[in-house]
Amino acid sequence: MNKKIIIAIDGYSSCGKSTLAKQLAKELHYIYADSGAMYRAITLYFLRNEIHHTNLNKVREALKDIHLEFVFDVDAGKSVLYMNDENIELPIRDMIISEKVSEVAAIKEVREFAVAQQQRMGNNKGIVMDGRDIGTTVFPHAELKIFMTADIAVRVERRFKELFAVNPAITIEEVKQNLEMRDYIDSNREISPLRKAEDAVVLNNSDLTMAQQLKIALQWAREKIDLV
Ligand code: CDP
Ligand code: CDP
Repeated sequence: MNKKIIIAIDGYSSCGKSTLAKQLAKELHYIYADSGAMYRAITLYFLRNEIHHTNLNKVREALKDIHLEFVFDVDAGKSVLYMNDENIELPIRDMIISEKVSEVAAIKEVREFAVAQQQRMGNNKGIVMDGRDIGTTVFPHAELKIFMTADIAVRVERRFKELFAVNPAITIEEVKQNLEMRDYIDSNREISPLRKAEDAVVLNNSDLTMAQQLKIALQWAREKIDLV
């Protein structure tokens, strides 16, 4: 009676995907994987090593040197991403990374590198992964696919609050521009653009609390688990 499924959560920036993914993983005792953190980590590596995303030879070489691993941090109560044995959870959330990540994530070689690793993480099921192409490309056979949305003003406000807590110099306008730019690039790139998978259920959480969104998604998950 060890029935496990794959839950894929996709959607626009800052609509609550990783919050929901973490909530579901905790309730179901599943692994939680933040695929966006991997693209952010690769972007951090490129910035630190002055690798321009248009220089594909350098990009290919650099990818050989990047080792990414999610490690469960008991104190934080969640899994955090390590790059080449360094906990990079803090630096990858910086606005400098948010400004560059969508360009880096549009590169074919970068996507192949990340997707191969993400798919290996799903080998034993029992995983909740959030991102932009999880239901369409990484796990097209996921038993439950959720496509999340929320009004742009709500999303900006949520992300602004998070960033303001660590950087009081940040402005609402800066956050809004970044979310809109990333949503545009992510939705219009050639490879695996952000799309709702045909068989995904839509969850608009503009007016939902975190408890309410969990209740809805948990019911969807339990219905799918019962079918396994
Ligand atoms: O800041 P937010 O939580 O909205 O984004 P994220 O999940 O950390 O992802 C950062 C960026 O990585 C996105 O804007 C995409 O450009 C890229 N990404 C992607 O291309 N595919 C994924 N599966 C996840 C993220
Ligand atoms: O992963 P994604 O970029 O889609 O968003 P997130 O990092 O999960 O959520 C962005 C912010 O919205 C977080 O600070 C959450 O606490 C908050 N949030 C909320 O206030 N209400 C919800 N129903 C969901 C998320």
